[in-house]
Amino acid sequence: MAGRFITFEGGEGAGKSTQIARLGARLEARGLPVVVTREPGGSPRAERIREAVLGGGAKPFGPLAEAILFSAARLDHLDATIRPALARGAFVLCDRFLDSTRAYQGLDDRIEGNILRALERVVVAGTRPDLTIVLDVPPKLGLERAAARRTEQGEGADRFEAEDLAFHERLREAFRTIAASEPARCVLIDAARPPDKVEAEIWHVVKDRFGSDLAAATARRRAHG
Ligand SMILES: Nc1ncnc2c1ncn2[C@@H]1O[C@H](COP(=O)(O)OP(=O)(O)O)[C@@H](O)[C@H]1O
Ligand SMILES: [Mg+2]
Repeated sequence: MAGRFITFEGGEGAGKSTQIARLGARLEARGLPVVVTREPGGSPRAERIREAVLGGGAKPFGPLAEAILFSAARLDHLDATIRPALARGAFVLCDRFLDSTRAYQGLDDRIEGNILRALERVVVAGTRPDLTIVLDVPPKLGLERAAARRTEQGEGADRFEAEDLAFHERLREAFRTIAASEPARCVLIDAARPPDKVEAEIWHVVKDRFGSDLAAATARRRAHG
């Protein structure tokens, strides 16, 4: 059986990492193989590119070079991590993917849309997400959450978190526009609510989309005792 590819998108502090962990636990509890991964990064080589980009080291090269670095990271991530996991039949839960490139690198027309689309076509090729959960939160709230988490973990703001509030407002709009333009793939979820509520809604969506996979896993477990 081919796996399922689910991506999580949205601004800083929207709850992507939190909800991926919760969905992963639910799927594993039902006996489904789960691979949790993230972008930029997600494979040893791509993680090295992540350090350069999120550390701000690539910013002086300009938006196009940054987008190409993200694309290079994604090529390796797809080859080394995502496609092999899907081939094994896993549920792949990915923290950010192509919509983050569209939203961040495409913001304010820094890069022509046709260049971004061409990169997407050659890099992502046929490996499109089966489902994209877009977590929607007012940026002020998201950034407060992200700042609180960083204080807890003693981390500094990364290259994008350090942008101003207006940048994050435009980013939110970009994600909402993407979700509205691809309703078959994307589900927009109000992520300003408590984590349990968000988790329940995501689970509802996943059961709705992949109910037959869940039923097959349950049947397999019954058959094997
Ligand atoms: N729905 C929520 N309500 C309140 N706090 C949340 C919620 N979801 C996540 N958090 C907290 O906010 C912080 C950022 O969440 P995280 O999942 O790391 O967001 P992201 O991965 O989207 O940046 C974490 O400390 C997390 O515990
Ligand atoms: Mg996160």
